[in-house]
Amino acid sequence: MQVHKLYVLLIVFLPFTVESQNCSGLPELLKFNTGNAVTTIKAWEKHKKELKKQFDEEMFGTQPPVPKGVRYKVVHETATAIGGKASRKRVNLYLNNLDHPLELLIYYPNGVKKAPAFLGYNFWGNHTVTFETDIPVTAQWSRNNNIIQDHKATDKMRGFSASRWPVEAIIDAGFALVTLYHGDVDPDFDDGFMNGVHGLYPREKYSWGTIAAWSWGLSYVMNYLEKDNRIDAKKVAVVGHSRLGKVALHAGATDERFALTISNNSGCGGAALSCRKKGETIKAINDRFPHWFTANFKKYNEKDDSMPFDQHQLIALVAPRPVYVASADLDAWADPEGEYLSAFLAGEVYRLYGLNGLKSDKMPAVHAPFHEGSVGYHIRAGKHDITLYDWQQYIAFATKRFCL
Ligand code: GCU
Repeated sequence: MQVHKLYVLLIVFLPFTVESQNCSGLPELLKFNTGNAVTTIKAWEKHKKELKKQFDEEMFGTQPPVPKGVRYKVVHETATAIGGKASRKRVNLYLNNLDHPLELLIYYPNGVKKAPAFLGYNFWGNHTVTFETDIPVTAQWSRNNNIIQDHKATDKMRGFSASRWPVEAIIDAGFALVTLYHGDVDPDFDDGFMNGVHGLYPREKYSWGTIAAWSWGLSYVMNYLEKDNRIDAKKVAVVGHSRLGKVALHAGATDERFALTISNNSGCGGAALSCRKKGETIKAINDRFPHWFTANFKKYNEKDDSMPFDQHQLIALVAPRPVYVASADLDAWADPEGEYLSAFLAGEVYRLYGLNGLKSDKMPAVHAPFHEGSVGYHIRAGKHDITLYDWQQYIAFATKRFCL
């Protein structure tokens, strides 16, 4: 064959060459671990189990089964939140012997019988999501910052994260918003897996790290949402920013009840391909956050480009349910291009289901969102954050995918 014809063939058949990205060993999505090709949906469903097991054993750790049912109590309710546009409920969920409840803060759009919903953790407690004065300050462990000392949350942080939770825009679009503090489920520090929900299960049996514990917590919340008659439980989008975006992806990959999965600036261990070694590396994340993943994951320190798995496979586990990945152009630590490429590569599995993924291996320009298929993407100008612009894209994509 003439050399130029070979080039043409390569260009036509290889949607994305990863050699130039330190990614020559990147595992192919549509191949069993034996190397046999995955060509049907049935075969993919089988391969999915292999991949799930690999992520459990090598990266996130094995979770205990999510308890069936839910114990809960509505602790407060008002029909006149957000200038009368929303109802607001505080609901406590109880778990086995956990000494404190998981405290849900829920806004429902008034006038919508059963609302589709966004569900996501917040970083600092429910009182930081809003300036409303009647949301109690979390009593759980908080990370120290220039306001918080001795890991004790304070009223001074009220509304601190309000820009990340544009409740009114979400309500105006006809969605409910469900949020809770991730520290209710597991405190975000290396405590030898003793505190939070880790303490409820034997370590010998369950190797879950904190990301898997947070994701498990979201599944427990879903048990409640299935019982809440103002929520359309078939239309719940799980969403998270940064470490909580890693959690959203894990939750979407492990619990099929999440109808849409949204990863905002999730970076290493989330949407970004590790093999590229751009931004945060596996060693960097394991060194700073040894509790996020299972012990086995440490063996990949400095082996980012030779792992038997990578993050495009995690995204693909969400298929055929829609998934959305978002980046910010100044967020080099999260490797925006790596986030885009793994979302692009996951499209292969969506195509197997007859659905569309991202069209091109070239990243779109900033503020040029792609919402046409089952894999959504945008890159925003600015730093690592979740902003009104990001939420506007999620609302638009969810409205489309949920056929609202
Ligand atoms: C750190 C960490 C990231 C994480 C981020 C966050 O920067 O290295 O992996 O996504 O914190 O959660 O804010």
